[in-house]
Amino acid sequence: MTNILGTELRLACGAVLPNRIAKAAMTEGLADADDRATDRHATLYRRWSRGGAGLLITGNVMVDRRYLERPGNVVIDGNGGQAQLREWARAGTEAGNHLWMQISHPGRQATRTSTRQPMSPSDVQLKLAGMFARPRAMSQADIEDAVQRYARVAEVARDTGFTGVQVHGAHGYLISQFLSPVTNRRTDQWGGSLENRARFLLETVNAVRGRVGADFPVAVKLNSADFQKGGFTLEDCVRVAGWLGDAGIDLLEISGGTYEQPRLLDHQGQDDTYVEPQRESTRRREAYFLEYAGAIQDSARVPLMVTGGFRTRVAMEEAVSTGEAAVIGLGRPLCVEPELSRGLIDGAVQSAGSWEKELRLGPGRLFGPASPVYLIKFFNVQGEVAWFYRQIVKLSQGQDPDTGLSLRRALGQHLRSELRLSRGRTFRPA
Ligand SMILES: Cc1cc2nc3c(=O)[nH]c(=O)nc-3n(C[C@H](O)[C@H](O)[C@H](O)COP(=O)(O)O)c2cc1C
Repeated sequence: MTNILGTELRLACGAVLPNRIAKAAMTEGLADADDRATDRHATLYRRWSRGGAGLLITGNVMVDRRYLERPGNVVIDGNGGQAQLREWARAGTEAGNHLWMQISHPGRQATRTSTRQPMSPSDVQLKLAGMFARPRAMSQADIEDAVQRYARVAEVARDTGFTGVQVHGAHGYLISQFLSPVTNRRTDQWGGSLENRARFLLETVNAVRGRVGADFPVAVKLNSADFQKGGFTLEDCVRVAGWLGDAGIDLLEISGGTYEQPRLLDHQGQDDTYVEPQRESTRRREAYFLEYAGAIQDSARVPLMVTGGFRTRVAMEEAVSTGEAAVIGLGRPLCVEPELSRGLIDGAVQSAGSWEKELRLGPGRLFGPASPVYLIKFFNVQGEVAWFYRQIVKLSQGQDPDTGLSLRRALGQHLRSELRLSRGRTFRPA
């Protein structure tokens, strides 16, 4: 009997995903000095393609060289690199799977090494101890330009062999900044009511669709909530999901959180005032956004991809068979076990390995597990993320992951490499 995870999924645009497992977007940090893709992207995605997931989503590709999420981001902004993109797309679809490009703009979450002044809907600075500069409020021209940039990048993705695109509307990046009343204090047509706050997202999706045509997959990644007081709520998400359904997207990925509240990785940030519902079942404790899928699905009427925490085959199968998720998103496990998807689909593997527990509880932990000091919490999360970045680098070099790597070493290696990458860029911050 076919395992439900191995069944196809036909999308509204006509494309067919060969199975229900997707590699979620994970920023690679592998671009060259001109912010272009390299052969390391091809090596990395060839490995993931052979790993069996029906859909691979790239790490976020930036639409503007002036504003990066981190040095080493691939940018598509008149800087060439089409041949490398083609090579990446060829390698990443080798096994007949889909490869979609995630398209993104960091807004106020742009690094200080890429810009001295980011831009955002309003001039609200991140609360991360001054690590991110205060943004300037975007003008009407900035907004219109940004919408067109997403659309242009989508067209390049289609023309270079990527088989779909995902607009990054989650995790506190630019679109998510428009959606949240905490970061969007505008009083014009782009701020205020939810209709106005969602306008930037919907115009972007329409512009992207206009460029890529009706038969090309267009997806959106959206927060179920920001988990911040006064921020984007589940009720907001349910309404926006309905509008995205009306706009004709093919797949909606559900995540949550921001840099200030990193719930995407099941970590808490500084704002502990937000009370979230109890997670009822074991399955929902594992996949921490599954809780919200039902309400969102009812409203969106498009297939949902749910990402965050899925580790066991039984939880994944149940989520698909109950219809709570059409696609299971996997991030961190695929950095350590790039062939995990195949094992889950074949039924040979019941669960991701135990490396994660060891990582969180082991001696490699940077600082105490539940420190009240916000900056320490931030570095604990950074250390963990750095550990996964280093595994991605290993895979991109054609090597196997190194589960013996300590968090401290990973963070050190990561910070040194980020510094090197930002110094090496040909594009200088203005
Ligand atoms: C190393 C790393 C890089 C990530 N980069 C991105 C990204 O570029 N875009 C994005 O939408 N999410 C990104 N995420 C979030 C993942 O897509 C996913 O939502 C998260 O890891 C939770 O899923 P998991 O429990 O399966 O890891 C990243 C996560 C990690 C660990």
